[in-house]
Amino acid sequence: MTILVTGGAGFIGGNYVLDWFAQTDEPLVNVDKLTYAGNLETVASLAGHPGYTFVQADIGDRAIISRLLHDRKPRAVVNFAAESHVDRSIDGPSEFIQTNVVGTFNLLESVRGYWTNLSDTEKSAFRFLHVSTDEVYGSLGPQDRPFAETNPYEPNSPYSASKAASDHLVRAWHHTYGLPVLTTNCSNNYGPYHFPEKLVPLVILNAINGKPLPIYGDGQQIRDWLYVKDHCSAIRTVLAGGKLGETYNVGGWNEKPNLDVVKTICGILDEMKPRADGRSYADQITFVRDRPGHDRRYAIDARKIERELGWKPAETFESGIRKTVAWYLENTQWTANVQSGAYQQWVKKNYAGREQ
Ligand code: NAD
Ligand code: DAU
Repeated sequence: MTILVTGGAGFIGGNYVLDWFAQTDEPLVNVDKLTYAGNLETVASLAGHPGYTFVQADIGDRAIISRLLHDRKPRAVVNFAAESHVDRSIDGPSEFIQTNVVGTFNLLESVRGYWTNLSDTEKSAFRFLHVSTDEVYGSLGPQDRPFAETNPYEPNSPYSASKAASDHLVRAWHHTYGLPVLTTNCSNNYGPYHFPEKLVPLVILNAINGKPLPIYGDGQQIRDWLYVKDHCSAIRTVLAGGKLGETYNVGGWNEKPNLDVVKTICGILDEMKPRADGRSYADQITFVRDRPGHDRRYAIDARKIERELGWKPAETFESGIRKTVAWYLENTQWTANVQSGAYQQWVKKNYAGREQ
């Protein structure tokens, strides 16, 4: 028994791979292209683990992926690999179409070729789990009900449109070819090993580095926050018991306006690592020009996964965010390395001239 994970050097994939070996000895092959977001330091503790293999490859490279599938014979593929940052998709959508749409298509074709030649027993046991996002459903008004699996797709950014396209391909490969697929659509994750282009790690690191904490627009946009390890447990649950061809929404019932999230982080930092001048980190909050097309509110109705598969998050936002802040304060080597030259260039490009 073996599973193959794509994008396992990224934030969620990395946490998933680490959690996997904390729970089982089943071998796992981690395939990652190592884009700017891929970081082998995240999974460095697995070097030398007998069940762990890392392969640097693009999910769109059919020759390499097909050979890997043939050689390692996984019972499942879990697809995390994607371009994942909305702001970068606005700045340059091309890579998002390439990896999230064309890459997923090629991965599906490699997997279909492999799956078709399995024995009947292996075929029916096989699973392709596609990790997707709540952003495919678009934006909610203040009184709207949280996104259910039956909501129509209304993606608004190049990122969410590319993820929506990939979800449709996965669905079609099940409907047309019978590929045994599962899809999860999850809300905003936070936790250890999160690349600091995203709000939560950006705010923690900017705060302790004495930099501004940039809030897009009025900061009243709402996201539904889930601790990354809860997302990982949801994926394991769906992989083990999900109904073929079904989608499962995953969320933490933690709707928060961005400004509240940032103020909560500042409050925890004030306690854990007080500023030398005795003032609050909240003084560093700066309002900046909004993200174009910024979705106002996301919220996930996670009742299906709870009802059908018995999954529930273990962390509240309050417990998860404290663990996250503490992790960033303790893991200074990891955080120093990810804030390299390339990262600084992105920060300059995204935030220069944006102050209001
Ligand atoms: P991430 O950007 O941190 O990591 C993505 C990983 O994929 C990186 O290691 C990168 O090197 C790899 N990758 C990119 N293109 C690749 C390619 N062509 N071939 C192979 N590897 C490639 O992203 P993340 O936040 O960990 O998100 C993982 C998945 O979960 C994505 O599919 C994303 O859409 C989805 N998701 C993310 C969130 C969130 O809040 N971060 C929420 C819901 C769903
Ligand atoms: O909802 C799930 C999605 O969550 C995932 O599919 C994406 O991969 C993931 O990146 C995340 O998307 P968001 O755009 O919601 O995450 P981000 O951390 O970039 O932003 C969170 C909110 O904070 C959003 O409303 C924009 C805002 N923001 C973000 C940054 C980087 C700011 O106000 N200032 C910032 O500097």
